[in-house]
Amino acid sequence: MKIQIINGPNLNLLGKRETTVYGSEPFENYFEKLKQRFSGHELHYFQSNVEGEIIDQLHKVGFEDVGVVLNAGAYTHTSVAIHDAIAAIKSPVVEVHISNVYAREEFRHKSLITSKCVGLITGFGLEGYAMAINYLVEK
Ligand code: DQA
Repeated sequence: MKIQIINGPNLNLLGKRETTVYGSEPFENYFEKLKQRFSGHELHYFQSNVEGEIIDQLHKVGFEDVGVVLNAGAYTHTSVAIHDAIAAIKSPVVEVHISNVYAREEFRHKSLITSKCVGLITGFGLEGYAMAINYLVEK
């Protein structure tokens, strides 16, 4: 199955950014491990710090036979436009957060996108991406 991982703002800094919260592994490293773990599937990775580029990528893959794993970063808590993009496309989208957003500041407790996603995985570190892919390839 084709899987598209989409990471939003500041997630290009994984491994350098707030390592006590997000860990010390760059996403590119972890993505190589994911490709090995799910070698029977076609994994793609896209990252952008720009809201419109995330929306464009959702539009681009969202009418293909693809499962989407989306960590929208801080846009999770603010973006009506990403909510609407998920609602507009056909592909299933799983929302992932590395940290447990409910154990953090109150402004992170509200997600504008969960209602349009098939489910939410939060707080399991990078392993959350594997959990999401596992769901998408097994369902
Ligand atoms: C995050 C949680 C968000 O609140 C934050 O803005 C991020 C990362 C996570 O993966 O834990 O950038 O999505």
